[in-house]
Amino acid sequence: MTDVQLGMPQLPAPDYPAEVRARLEADAREVIARYPDSRSALLPLLHLVQSEEGHVTRTGVRFCAEMLGLTTAEVTAVATFYTMYRRGPSGDYQVGVCTNTLCAVMGGDAIFEALQRHLGVGNGETTEDGKITLEHIECNAACDYAPVVMVNWEFFDNQTVDSATRMVDDLRAGRTVEPTRGAPLCTFKETARILAGFPDPRPGAVEAGGSAGPASLVGLRLAKGEAAPGRVVSPRSADYPSDEEAPAHPSSHDAPQRTSASDPHHPSGPVAEEGE
Ligand code: FES
Repeated sequence: MTDVQLGMPQLPAPDYPAEVRARLEADAREVIARYPDSRSALLPLLHLVQSEEGHVTRTGVRFCAEMLGLTTAEVTAVATFYTMYRRGPSGDYQVGVCTNTLCAVMGGDAIFEALQRHLGVGNGETTEDGKITLEHIECNAACDYAPVVMVNWEFFDNQTVDSATRMVDDLRAGRTVEPTRGAPLCTFKETARILAGFPDPRPGAVEAGGSAGPASLVGLRLAKGEAAPGRVVSPRSADYPSDEEAPAHPSSHDAPQRTSASDPHHPSGPVAEEGE
């Protein structure tokens, strides 16, 4: 019986320049050391190579395979499974508009269409200045703040055509943009490095966490017996208790109006239980 190796073929990818390779290797070893089984480090390593080039290149796939003792086919299978890994060049800011059912009817479809016109790009395309890649995305599990827009994985709740347009204009102009929860936005590459497991070096970034809003926590509070069932009302609506101060909304690009642009009879926005 002949000794035949049935390993998967390796992609013919160029290596990184020596300086880049040395730096990434040091980072990769730090990540791999966190796991009892090295192959468990594949997801953060894919973020790491994405932080270098803005997407997962064949060189990045080869690097991950070599560092983890995997085939490039195995790495590619994982990299192409998750939408968080980009397979082509993308902009500094990945702007995803939720067009799943609830967000769509609450204004997501209108926002996506308006941004396509405003930016002159289609789904998955990048503006000529390399700043914005626009895409429609599926439900972000933030339906209570529909319609939501996500930029480099950070939430912008209760968006409208106007607020979303202003936000992409500010991003292209280099102005600071703060999501509804979390620290001010950084670039896609910087975000990828954080997701690879390296600390956000910006002062105050870690403390700027934010938390779930009242509507998201209603079920938890009911389960803990802390709140009686009640109708959920928006602090922007006329029904909101007058002696209750509406919660501050930390996003720099919160929608300024009282209701969703697409459905003025059903207010969207940060919510609280009636009678709180
Ligand atoms: S439908 Fe948009 S977050 Fe769920």
